[in-house]
Amino acid sequence: MKVTTDNISTSTGASALSVYVRTARSGDIKPLSELLSSSFYRKAGWSRWVYPLLKLGISEDLRQRLRSAKAFYACLAAVHISSPNTGKQTDELIGTVEIACRQPYLWQVKEHSYVYLSNLAVRSDRRRRGVARKLLATCETVAMDWGFKDIYLHVMEDNPQARRLYGKAGYQIKETEETPLTWLGLSSRRLLLHKPLKKH
Ligand SMILES: CC(C)(COP(=O)(O)OP(=O)(O)OC[C@H]1O[C@@H](n2cnc3c(N)ncnc32)[C@H](O)[C@@H]1OP(=O)(O)O)[C@@H](O)C(=O)NCCC(=O)NCCS
Repeated sequence: MKVTTDNISTSTGASALSVYVRTARSGDIKPLSELLSSSFYRKAGWSRWVYPLLKLGISEDLRQRLRSAKAFYACLAAVHISSPNTGKQTDELIGTVEIACRQPYLWQVKEHSYVYLSNLAVRSDRRRRGVARKLLATCETVAMDWGFKDIYLHVMEDNPQARRLYGKAGYQIKETEETPLTWLGLSSRRLLLHKPLKKH
């Protein structure tokens, strides 16, 4: 995957970080599991007791997916470039996302296969510097290279940061999903977002 060092400006005034996006390898499992668990779970309070187990689960699942070497699957890792002029990379993994092909359900006869994004996360001390935007843009390029026309992903309704990111990137709500947990007020609704891909 090519080095991408463009400087996108951010509305916070902080300059965008220069990152190199590449496919993840087995040596990345440890830092990526740490990044994912710290991005999706709290380490404080009672959660700190289950946190190591959740992290282990994330790490094993990721190991399986990287090993399975399925067609149309990639785990992407964003690596910080310390000196953009020379393109010098650090070993610092600051973001990740997974991209995979999904088949429609049997009853969705008119639907075609599509690309689904999951596990998008950026290290907390590197956020609001354009890293997620860069990862999403790379996913779109990969999906188009694979020949797909649509990208889908889920986001929780109570995740305004991510919803803003996806909204700005052109994703729109396709479905709002409820479960018994949402009816009981124990969980927020899941939104299925969609973006049609266009060749530029
Ligand atoms: C959501 C997340 C991936 C965003 O990563 P990021 O690298 O900080 O995002 P970017 O810097 O590329 O932001 C792009 C745009 O998204 C929006 N955005 C991102 N974070 C935001 C925040 N905290 N508040 C408001 N808007 C935000 C802004 O519009 C931003 O553009 P701007 O900075 O020019 O205003 C990151 O906050 C994260 O890892 N969160 C925890 C895990 C998670 O929720 N993942 C998404 C699962 S669906």
